[in-house]
Formats: sequence, C-alpha cells, structure tokens
Amino acid sequence: MPARLMDGTAFAAKLRERVKDGVDGLRRDHDLVPGLAVVLVGDNPASRVYVKNKAARTVEAGMRSFEHRLPANASEESLMALIAGLNADPAVHGILVQLPLPPQIQESAVLNAVAPAKDVDGFHPINVGLLATGKPGLVPCTPLACLMLAKEALGTLEGLDAVVIGRSNIVGKPVAQLLLTENCTVTVAHSKTRDLPAVCRRADLLIAAVGRPEMVKADWIKPGATVIDVGINRVDAAEAGKTRLVGDVDTLACASIAGAITPVPGGVGPMTIACLLVNTLRAACAGLGTQSPV
Ligand code: GUN
Repeated sequence: MPARLMDGTAFAAKLRERVKDGVDGLRRDHDLVPGLAVVLVGDNPASRVYVKNKAARTVEAGMRSFEHRLPANASEESLMALIAGLNADPAVHGILVQLPLPPQIQESAVLNAVAPAKDVDGFHPINVGLLATGKPGLVPCTPLACLMLAKEALGTLEGLDAVVIGRSNIVGKPVAQLLLTENCTVTVAHSKTRDLPAVCRRADLLIAAVGRPEMVKADWIKPGATVIDVGINRVDAAEAGKTRLVGDVDTLACASIAGAITPVPGGVGPMTIACLLVNTLRAACAGLGTQSPV
C-alpha cells in the first residue's frame, strides 16, 4: 500500500490558526501583542526570501514584526549593539538572526548575545542545555516541526526505533534529543556511519537531515515506517536551464514502502515557519508567567 503523504502545508496552516487564537487571547486578556524581530545581515537571496516569508506570517498571526537589515560589510559590534537594543525592548518577545552571517562576524558570539528568553531559534547554549537535560526551554524550529509531524502521523512515539541521519547543531542533534524525551530509542547516523542503509532499515521513524539530494533509497526503508524529510536541495530540472527542489529522500520510490512520508516542498518547510510563530507565542507567554496554549 502506498504511503500517506503528510501535508505539511495544511498542517502548518492549522497550527498558525491555533497560534493566532493564542495571540488574540493574549491581546484580550493581557493587552499584549507578541513581537518578533528578524535581523538580516547582507543580501543573500535565499535569506531575503525566508525573512520576507517570516515577516508576512508573523503579521498574519496577529503579531508585530520588526525587520532589521544591516549591510553585508556590517561590523560584529554594530550587530551586537542592535541585538542589545532588541534584548532590552519590551515590545520584542522573539529575536531571530538569519544565518548564514558574513565572514567578518563570528556566529557563535552573535547567537550567545541573544537573550535566552527571546531566543526563538533555540540556538543559545542555555536553551541547548535545557533541551539536552529534558527541561522546558525554547526548542529549534525545524526539530520542533519534525516532532509535531511525527506525532501527527504516529500519535505516541514511545518505544519506537528512531534513526536521525545528520548530526548538525541546528537539526540532527536537537531532533535526536526531542525524540529521546519522547522515549524513542534514538540512533544518530552520519557520514562515518557504517552500512547506513542497514541502520535506516531498523527505523520505525526515519528523519533525514543531511542536505544530499534523494540520498535515501526505497530499500533503506522499513515497510510501514514514517519518513520525515528535512532536506531542501535545488537540482537541475529535466527542462534545460530550470531547477527544482528535492529532499534528502527519494520520495517517489520510498512512498511505496513507507507508511507515511513528507513531501519536498510542502512538508517540513512550512511547518518550520509555523513553529517560529509557536516559539514567539511561547516566549511572550513565558514573559507573563502564563502557559502558552500551543
Ligand atoms: N538559516 C537557515 N535556517 C535557519 C534557521 O533555522 N534559523 C536561522 N536563524 N537562520 C537560518
């Protein structure tokens, strides 16, 4: 039986509606409008598109969006001064510095400068440590998106064999920690893993986050497994001069074996932005000492 294709676009739209309801509640009950500040340094075309989308979704959810742009040759000091101002601004509940940064700016110094309570990317070492120790904090958006999709497909994840391909700080490691918190038995596979197909074939839940176009093949999939594809890779299309997006999973081939699978585009991607809004709402609620409804 072919796999159920998980519709990340529709699921994300429902999640954004729930965030909007939460935002409406905060305005009504606490006279508070959550605000998200996004900082873009330079003019990386992909980053510009992401930042524009994030701002549009933020406003749609009833939140305030603050966009800050610095030139590609901006100094680390000027970015640090901007972040210090945003940390101190009571209208700003979430701060996201779009990556990558230009080479003259040290990424770790910038991520460490964002107030942990406003760190909606979940990249600050305090939030990384909270996640690693299973305590509440702000969790990176893409891993949170993967977790929500996995729970949507499977209900409880307890006892499942989960395999994560990729060990990045942004996706692989945090998603593995989230799955551990859900009582999965977690394997983190990477470029030095021996017999990767055999490791993947053990997975009830397979999360691919390597950045290699269509690397995961049909015979890597355990029949009925849930497959979540984090990859967004641009490759040449059949038509000359055109490109198309593919994931890390050979979706068409794997869909005949898997139980459920996320497409690319339209799977994890839209959920990631929705999770950024979730984190902004959570940060605003935490500032009031109330529980976020989402
Ligand atoms: N660039 C690509 N992905 C991300 C992300 O999740 N957060 C930030 N801040 N920048 C990115």
